[in-house]
Amino acid sequence: MIILGIETSCDETAASIVSAEKDKIAVVSNIVSSQVRLHAKWGGVVPNLAAREHLKNILPVINKCLKEAKIDKENISLIAVTCGPGLIPALLIGVNAAKTLGYLWQKPAIGIHHIEGHIYANFISAESKKNNDLKFPILSLVVSGGHTQLVLMKKHLHYQIVGETLDDAAGEAFDKVARILGLGYPGGPIISKLASKIPGNYKLLDATLPRPKIKSNDLDFSFSGLKTAVLYMVKKNEKLLSNKRFVAEISHEFQSSVIDVLVSKTIAAAKIYNPKTICISGGVSANSELRKQLGEAVAKNFPRVKFRVPEAKYSIDNASMIAAAAYYRMKYQRKKRDAHSWKKIQADANMRLDQQ
Ligand code: KG4
Ligand code: ZN
Repeated sequence: MIILGIETSCDETAASIVSAEKDKIAVVSNIVSSQVRLHAKWGGVVPNLAAREHLKNILPVINKCLKEAKIDKENISLIAVTCGPGLIPALLIGVNAAKTLGYLWQKPAIGIHHIEGHIYANFISAESKKNNDLKFPILSLVVSGGHTQLVLMKKHLHYQIVGETLDDAAGEAFDKVARILGLGYPGGPIISKLASKIPGNYKLLDATLPRPKIKSNDLDFSFSGLKTAVLYMVKKNEKLLSNKRFVAEISHEFQSSVIDVLVSKTIAAAKIYNPKTICISGGVSANSELRKQLGEAVAKNFPRVKFRVPEAKYSIDNASMIAAAAYYRMKYQRKKRDAHSWKKIQADANMRLDQQ
């Protein structure tokens, strides 16, 4: 089946065409129009500005996507759109576009949870492979700008949140620390680039940062205190803030702390729940050091467990992941969502993954 995916939950206007058959999900076109530069000067996403940009871009992005895929609307079998969670003014633009197209083209349409999309990015088939090879139970570390969760899936569409952040999400911590260091928005890619320039010991940094909750007996996270610890570190060394080496060392130490905690909690969760596959998704999973270290930890602790990461372009927000999740919703959801009519789709800023 040919699925048109649409995503506007935050600051990317995205559309995608995927072709899905017998668990092989092939991306035919994947268009993402990023608003990063617009929001950078505010140090974060401004919801109403995001909505205005989505409104301007949504139809050109969908048009470009169809053109690039060389697909006529007649051949589309399903329209899938992110309906939550996210910024409500932003979500409404995508949802409204999907509803309008569903009505106009008389096609079934379905709302998809954004994090379900991130998880199903792992099911997008690599070009070299015929089918995905993910085996249940799957333990998925979801790390994005708004979420940090360890999600256990015993089968398709069933989610058990076994651990989550008590305050800031991992991506949010990257963004806030980048702001403290005067590095701009979004923080993740900038911090990881700086961190990669520090191979060995620190020359200017004389203290380490905490690894919050790393030894706690639960699977939850907390990154808010870590951000405060960076703030104190910066205040103590204010004069060094203009020194590039110093900023790179703090970036490295901060990133190491986040990765140590994420890896340690994922391994702890795997010891309890014995997954056959461990995967990682969400914007922070684009971080190459996190991919490397989690991959090594899985290989060392559980040599028989598969470790999967999406291609980086499907880690950050995109619409292919939404279309991929929609394929599995169509395939495995027993109670078909009211015949998948555009009439039933509602935007919900606080939609929960485990209560659908
Ligand atoms: O999944 P995503 O694109 O949007 C949300 O659903 O939130 O995630 C965005 C987050 C931002 O906080 C950004 O700083 C972070 O992902 N991010 C990264 C990297 N690339 C993006 N964090 C760490 N390392 C990266 N390479
Ligand atoms: Zn996301």
